[in-house]
Amino acid sequence: MAGINSAVERSAVGKPIQDLDTPALCLDLDLFESNLKRMADYFRGRSARLRPHFKNNKCSQIAMRQLSAGSAVGMTCAKLGEAEVLSTAGCRDILIANQIVGPDKIARLVELARTTPTLRVAVDDRDNAAAIAESASRAGVTVGLLIEIDIGMGRCGVGAGAPALDLARHIVKLKGVRFDGLQAYEGHLVTVPNRDERRRRVREDLGKAVETRRAIEAAGIAVPIISGGSTSTYDAAASVEGVNEIQAGTYPTMDHMYVKLAPEFAIALSIVSRVISRPKAGTAVLDTGLKGAGHEFGPPKPKGMLDANMSIHLSEEHCTIVGAPDWKVGQAVELIPSHSCTTCNLYRRIHVHQNSRIIDVWPIEASGRLA
Ligand SMILES: Cc1ncc(COP(=O)(O)O)c(C=O)c1O
Repeated sequence: MAGINSAVERSAVGKPIQDLDTPALCLDLDLFESNLKRMADYFRGRSARLRPHFKNNKCSQIAMRQLSAGSAVGMTCAKLGEAEVLSTAGCRDILIANQIVGPDKIARLVELARTTPTLRVAVDDRDNAAAIAESASRAGVTVGLLIEIDIGMGRCGVGAGAPALDLARHIVKLKGVRFDGLQAYEGHLVTVPNRDERRRRVREDLGKAVETRRAIEAAGIAVPIISGGSTSTYDAAASVEGVNEIQAGTYPTMDHMYVKLAPEFAIALSIVSRVISRPKAGTAVLDTGLKGAGHEFGPPKPKGMLDANMSIHLSEEHCTIVGAPDWKVGQAVELIPSHSCTTCNLYRRIHVHQNSRIIDVWPIEASGRLA
């Protein structure tokens, strides 16, 4: 695990986060560790295991701590580039919960399979499965395949039931791949505000994956894995019998959107920003704009003021807050992003602090790795 890797980064250690050049991504170590412990404790003794989703933070130091915290079988990735970073960091069991399509990517996938003892990928297409199989078989490696089924999200995936059975029958005849089960992510339910309703609907929709597993098993094909779940549905998904891997991503860092859905996890991530202008009374302009904060679920909000009555507007490099407190130009302000996953993807390093004093700097090796 590479830690601090440059003189600039080393020189940050010991500083208060307010003294960082801004914008700078920061992680509160104590809150982060309590999030890891809470999730690991939840899964202790359960039949479902945790497979944390690396797309949240793309930082191998975080991933290796998630694995060491216990209850985790391995990591989930969205991108092949993320899987390559994790494998280099020493992760031995990786699921790419996404389609790997095209000759260049399939060649990289097969190369990765040489050095990663357990490597699985999602498929929803016969020809794609056959192309992976042919390449893997030629290289003398085996890639595990999970059939992705669409249980309501309307993204990738074949239909539950007969279409999935059809694809499973095709896959078990191929050399170079191993049919390992089903990928069934209930992404359409993670933001359902009411937790009881969320739980009910997760049980209903993941039930389609369980029924599909039964249909495939009835045809004599074993289905060892059903993988799904998220930070707001981990408990609901883990209680569906037969769902045995939970791909929660955001819980280590959290953000101001997710904390409303899963308040048992604390927001450990912040962007230290600086007030660069006070153009008029009540208005403050900070140096973190659209290019410095993932904003899919709204603009970032000042830490400790998530429910304050202020209007916040982002342009490319500015965050304009109307109704701001009495901040001075030059003052550091911690912002909490609405979406930690796209925020981490914008930064190359994360400053780890305890009581606001930097104790380490971790590279975010997979940030910007979109392929
Ligand atoms: C395939 C997949 N699994 C799981 C998740 C859950 O991640 P999170 O806990 O960050 O919502 C996501 C989120 O985008 C996803 O795309």
